[in-house]
Amino acid sequence: MYKFSNLIKKRHDLIPGGAHTYSKGDDQFPANAPKVILRGKGAYVWGNDGKKYLDWCMGLRSVSLGHCYSVINKAVASQMQDGTNFGRPHISEFQLADLLIKTLPNAQMVKFAKNGSTVTTAAVKLARAYTGRKYAAFCKDHPFFSYDDWFIGTTVCDSGVPEEIKNLSFAFKYNDIKSLAVLFKKYPRQIACVIMEVVTTASPKNNFLKKVQALCKKNGAVFIVDEMITGFRWGIKGAQDYYGLKPDLSTYGKGIANGYSVAVLAGRRDIMNLGGLYHKRPRVFLISTTHGAETTGLAAAIAAIGEMKKKHVTDHFWKTGRALKDGLEKLIKKHDLQKYVEVLGFAPNLSMSFKESNGNASPVLRTIFLQEVAKRNILFQGYFAISYSHQRQEINKTLKAFDQVMIIYKKVLESGNFEKYLLGPALKPVFRKYN
Ligand SMILES: Cc1ncc(COP(=O)(O)O)c(C=O)c1O
Repeated sequence: MYKFSNLIKKRHDLIPGGAHTYSKGDDQFPANAPKVILRGKGAYVWGNDGKKYLDWCMGLRSVSLGHCYSVINKAVASQMQDGTNFGRPHISEFQLADLLIKTLPNAQMVKFAKNGSTVTTAAVKLARAYTGRKYAAFCKDHPFFSYDDWFIGTTVCDSGVPEEIKNLSFAFKYNDIKSLAVLFKKYPRQIACVIMEVVTTASPKNNFLKKVQALCKKNGAVFIVDEMITGFRWGIKGAQDYYGLKPDLSTYGKGIANGYSVAVLAGRRDIMNLGGLYHKRPRVFLISTTHGAETTGLAAAIAAIGEMKKKHVTDHFWKTGRALKDGLEKLIKKHDLQKYVEVLGFAPNLSMSFKESNGNASPVLRTIFLQEVAKRNILFQGYFAISYSHQRQEINKTLKAFDQVMIIYKKVLESGNFEKYLLGPALKPVFRKYN
């Protein structure tokens, strides 16, 4: 365990941010959480501190069956024996494409990549090429679509993004159809696409989603839904099926391949085909990457989709999430914390918020809660990435630990002096201008 201590000490000299997404960074976890993970199995991970943790992070929600899941291991090991990358397409590209087109509701063609950002950016580019327009409208209440300039330039983390690029993206608000209608009015026939998640924590109200879809149609804009989180979680057909939507393009990533790197752009043939070889319009250079169709990832995806269908894994997400939500809400009531702690979201994708008495979110209180959870050997970042390996035992373990945490949390709240309970710096927002 300790043989890595030198590497861990100099991790910020080796890798900017000390991680490969900012949400895995030191500023996103309490000081007593493990700095580094050494391995995982099922719903558990082992940290560099030598402890075994019940994992609610699950690779940023990408590991939907469980760490080191044997069905996936076998599929990947078998593909390894046949090679990983070739000079012409491998047959598994067509096997996975066919499976996805048969599985997903609005997918006539698909294209693979390694990261979610790649496919959301590709969707925006394709929409621009298809419509001949330059502006993209995105839902501001949805935290993240891509680390590429068209989106990240709209956040406070806009360093390195030219003003001209930032001015091409416009924000609208979830459940506020007027905020989108105003954009279409102000920029007639200039908005190439609308991109949003189907749902995060807030429920869609007043037929909002169908109204967005209708506005896109009326104004000739491409309707893109980002199912990176909801895909293969709300149901095998995603949240668009749940709400009866027919987006033009959809993007998927987390949850397809049990943590292996596979992201998918899917959608209407007439739009997707602009990236193809057989049409007379200008060619769109649509996702062309060396590793995009690396075969072990594709084998993992084929096996994971098969397993999810066979075991009705998305039903498990709903059932487990409901039990967890129920249990947590009972505990919040038991400890009389309704004003301070809230369980947010839908059963397959729950999170918690931590507030001061004035209702404002408190990073200090959040840190204290998470640090108490970490003390009880649970790796928790404020959301619950339920996997198929999270069974009743894991729910019971979590509820038992959170019961104890809430006793302490209540005392902290009563003391009024929160900072003194911190074991290290308070968590910081991922999107901020300066460190
Ligand atoms: C909704 C959504 N879209 C896109 C992305 C980007 O995916 P990736 O991190 O694979 O690039 C994320 C990642 O968190 C996401 O949550």
